[in-house]
Amino acid sequence: MIRLKGPEDIEKIRQAGQIIKAIFEILQEKVRPGVDTLSLDGFIDDFIQSHNARPAFKDYMGYPAASCISVNEEVVHGIPSQDKVLKEGDIVGIDVGVELGGYYADAAYTFGVGFVSEEDRRLMEATYNALMNAINKAKTARYIGDISYTIQRTVEKAGFSVVRDFIGHGVGFEIHEPPAVPNYGRPGTGDRIKPGLVIAIEPMVNAGTWEVDIDKDDKWTVRTKDRKKSAHYEHTIAILEKEVIILT
Ligand code: MF3
Ligand code: CO
Repeated sequence: MIRLKGPEDIEKIRQAGQIIKAIFEILQEKVRPGVDTLSLDGFIDDFIQSHNARPAFKDYMGYPAASCISVNEEVVHGIPSQDKVLKEGDIVGIDVGVELGGYYADAAYTFGVGFVSEEDRRLMEATYNALMNAINKAKTARYIGDISYTIQRTVEKAGFSVVRDFIGHGVGFEIHEPPAVPNYGRPGTGDRIKPGLVIAIEPMVNAGTWEVDIDKDDKWTVRTKDRKKSAHYEHTIAILEKEVIILT
């Protein structure tokens, strides 16, 4: 069942979301060659807790960290590690969930480390454009499939592929709620959109094949099957009668 949100709910989700926004602004400076992903996670964890909030991913289904940090061919759910040291030319997806006073927000951003190749820049740009086109589409969309189709079309026009095995979702009262928000699909399909719907839209886009596999040892890290690179951006948004508000 989809639980729509009222104005007070949306304000509280926005407050959780602003913590993530502030984290990404600081990460613009911190993501550079030589830094390991565990120390980035430590910063994220401390920042969230110092704002009297809680990292929503930690202990979720046994997940061990505050953030997911996915480098290059890692698509999502990369586990921060001291052994993962960033180097020039890497692209790094950082995904953060925050719970503040019982309300949840979720967002992700892909950072380039130092000089990033033209092709990788194009991948990041296409993924970001897919997210922003989807948010714009949400102003008039009547079905989730209208949003899904916009993402898929933007990505495939640019010559890249959308991941099928992981999708966006409702968010707010919990970290993951209905409805499902796939990054592929047909207009006029999926759940109907009503004012008060709060969703996390999160295109995961691969340079090569859309197929992925999950690390056999840690059971979390998702990688592209062909080991080509992948990018990920995510915003939590509220869809209202006359406008769409980005909460993160
Ligand atoms: N990245 C996922 C999302 O945006 C959530 C991560 S769940 C965790 O929906 F278990 F990895 F924490
Ligand atoms: Co999400």
